[in-house]
Formats: sequence, C-alpha cells, structure tokens
Amino acid sequence: MTSETTPVTAERERELLGRVPTGLLFGDGWSAAEDGATFPVVDPATGQAIAHVADASPADGARALDAAAAAQEGWAATAPRERAEILRRAFELVTARTDDLALLMTLEMGKPLAESRGEVAYGAEFLRWFSEEAPRISGRYATAPDGANRLMVLKRPVGPCLFITPWNFPLAMATRKIAPAIAAGCTMVLKPAALTPLTALYFAELLREAGLPDGVLTVIPTTRAGAVTAPLIRDPRLRKLSFTGSTEVGRRLIADSAEQVLRVSMELGGNAPFLVFDDADLDRAVAGAVLAKMRNGGEACVAANRFLVQRGIAERFTQAFTERMRGFRVARGTEPGSTMGPLVDEPTRTKVAELVAGAVEDGARVALGGRAVDGPGYFYEPTVLTDVPADARILDEEIFGPVAPIVVFDTEEEAVTLANATPFGLVAFAFTSDLNRGLRLAERIETGMFGLNAGVVSNPAAPFGGVKQSGLGREGGFEGIDEYLETRYVGIADPFAG
Ligand code: SIN
Repeated sequence: MTSETTPVTAERERELLGRVPTGLLFGDGWSAAEDGATFPVVDPATGQAIAHVADASPADGARALDAAAAAQEGWAATAPRERAEILRRAFELVTARTDDLALLMTLEMGKPLAESRGEVAYGAEFLRWFSEEAPRISGRYATAPDGANRLMVLKRPVGPCLFITPWNFPLAMATRKIAPAIAAGCTMVLKPAALTPLTALYFAELLREAGLPDGVLTVIPTTRAGAVTAPLIRDPRLRKLSFTGSTEVGRRLIADSAEQVLRVSMELGGNAPFLVFDDADLDRAVAGAVLAKMRNGGEACVAANRFLVQRGIAERFTQAFTERMRGFRVARGTEPGSTMGPLVDEPTRTKVAELVAGAVEDGARVALGGRAVDGPGYFYEPTVLTDVPADARILDEEIFGPVAPIVVFDTEEEAVTLANATPFGLVAFAFTSDLNRGLRLAERIETGMFGLNAGVVSNPAAPFGGVKQSGLGREGGFEGIDEYLETRYVGIADPFAG
C-alpha cells in the first residue's frame, strides 16, 4: 500500500466538512428530515463526531420514492446520449474533486488517504464506463422461424430502484449502482450507510452539477433503515432493489422483496481463499497476498479470508508475508505515512478480536499482531495466524479486518476441497506458475470471480459478483447495465400478409 506525504490540517478538514450537504435530497432539492432528526457521523480514528446529518424517517422515504416515481417516465424518454453526457460530466467532476472526496472518505471511514484516492479513481471509472455503455443499449428484429411473424426485442429501463450501499467503499459502491441505472434510464432512491453518508451526499451534489434532473436521484441517509426501506420494498412503484452488504441482511431483503416479486441484485459476503502452490513465484505471491488481504484494511467482501499454502513453500511464504505485514504503519488515515487506518467502528473491532481469540483457542499461533491498538479510535494490528487447523471457526467467517489465517495443504485436490468448503462464492485467488493448473482451478473453484496470479480482480469493466450465498447479479462490465434493463418482446404480424 502507498502512503501520502502532505499533512492535512484541521482547518482543511473543517473547511471541507462545512461544504458537504447534510440534508436529504428529494425531487426539489435538499431538505431537513420531516421530524427534524439528525445523527452524528463519527471519525473512526478518533471516535469523535465530525458532522450531523439529517436522519430520514419513513415519511421521508415515501417522499423520496414519490419523487423517483414521478421522474421515471420523463427520464426514461431522454436520449441515451444525454444520459451518457451527464455521466461523462460526473466522471470529470469526481476526478477534479478527488482531493475532497478522498479526504471525506478518510474522515468518515478511516482508510488512508492514498487508498481513498484509489477509490475515487475506481468509483469514477464506473461513471466513465457506463457513459460509454448508455448509447450501446440495443435490441433485435428477426423473422420468426416459420417466416411469418416478426419478432422485435426491446430493452426498457426497469424503473425506480432502491439502492442500499455499504460503508466500506462509500463512493465506488454507490457509483457502481448509480452509473448503470442512469445509463439505462432508471430513477433511484439511495440509502447510503449511516456510518458513511457524507461521501454519498457530496457525490449527489456533483451529479446535480453534472446536470442530473431533479428526482432522478434522491438520497435518504437514515439510522432507521428497516423502518424506512421496508415500506419502499413493499411499494408497487418500486421495481428494483440493489444491495451491497452482509449475506445475513441480504437474505432478509430477498425475503421482503418476494412479496412483490421485486428484481434484486445482491452483492453479499465472501470468504475468499488465497491459494499459493509450491511452484508459485514467491515475490508475486507475497505482493498479491498483501494486496488481497490489506486493500481497504481487510474491510472488503473480496478480501482474502483464508490463506491456503502448499507445504513446500509454506515456511518461505509465511516468513516473507509476515515481514510485509509488519511493515504497515497503523495511524489515522490523514497522517503522512499511514498505510492502515482504523476499523470502522467498535463492534467491527470487537468481532475481529473475538475471531482471533477463537482461532487461538482452536490451536492457531499468532505470528504477528493479534491485538487492538490502545488509545482513541478503533485500530487493530495487522495480524498473521499460522498453524490454523482446517476446521478452525475463523475459516468459516468473513473476518472484515487485517487478519490473515494460514492453513497448510499438500495436494491440489485438497486445496480445491478446502477452497470450496464454504457457503460463500464471491472470489478466489491462486498463485501458480503452471498455467494448466491455474485454468483447472478457475474452472473448479466455485466463485463468481477468480484471480490468477493477481491479488485484486475488481475492475469497472468486469462483471463483479458472486455465486452461492455471495449474491445474485453482476455489477460493472457489459453485464452491469442488464441489471437495470427489462427485455420486452413485441410480436408483429407478417408485414407482407394481407
Ligand atoms: C466490496 O467489498 O463490497 C467491494 C470491493 C470491490 O469492489 O473491490
């Protein structure tokens, strides 16, 4: 991970926070919550509130959907090129405001500034990618096999969508949903995570500046998530729910969506295996392992969760990887040289600490770290666990923190069995210099994504998503826009008859 060298002053933080909208965005602009409620946004590096944001009530949720439903027909009728140009302007604006967006993310979520800047580039790229996809939405016209009727297939926007986005990538997880929805002609209600609403609010204002018409996007941060979103999910005007978050919550949302057979996209939890074979290039494997584990401080659903290492390379890999993990500088993300910030909140840190304690009880050895850092904020040391038994509980759970459990295996067959021994199937990583082995693994490991000698696979031009309990649907790539389009078939009588 890289680090920044210019210090951020308290004055700069105050000045930026003073410019972020803190209301709810409806069809007619920004408003307070109907009942006047607000909630604090906390800097996880200090535990102190940095802003107060309007806390949407169920009535505010209904008002947001009213606006999205009212705007839908007009928005769907806009020219694809017009929607594309709004997205392109949004890409330019987000890129131009990288410093603001990066600092906001660091302040509300904790990741080091260099990583936040990386997320701005990643998040902006969804805007550019889908600006290029909007004019390419197409259909087909064919003659029926019997030569009589004609078959016309159209793509239509799904309609008003509800987006529930997570705190770990406050910008990119929003743009990954909003950009294809804009491209397809859908209107949206966005409920950003209550832990990190500021980035979404700032971004929503940039979209307005880019020319997004009123009502196409409404934004309703809330601490009353269930009370606000449940009535929207039951409302027949809503046509689509897209959620990124835990499998536990996703499962409940799918059940709620069943009532009106709502289209859903679910980007849920992972339990990524990271496989290192004896024939792997050690330096590449270690660099890939650091990326796969420590990107976003381990707070990513694609983070490597289980290191499965073949016996012949295990000692050398463990030693080199542990040294790289030792090199992280744990500090507030605004501090020059910080390469790992705090975890997002105390419950997240407690869960990580409990998983490590459980692994030690199950027989694991702490090779590095294994402790919360004293002082303000929710910091936790980069941690390496070795001698982890293959049936240890930590291997069944999504860690969502900077902890790397290492398990040793002997054969490729055993590695595949271990990799697939989970109800999750988001991503797997494998390091080997045998291409045939790599391709065998890519076919046999049950995940939606696979990294071959690569520690990061996320890319706006690729279909991101999982199988098994890791989710439904794909975000990004050519596939990403399909989530926001319905197929409509028009049967036409033979134009030459009668
Ligand atoms: C996630 O952790 O939810 C997404 C990470 C990514 O897009 O790489």
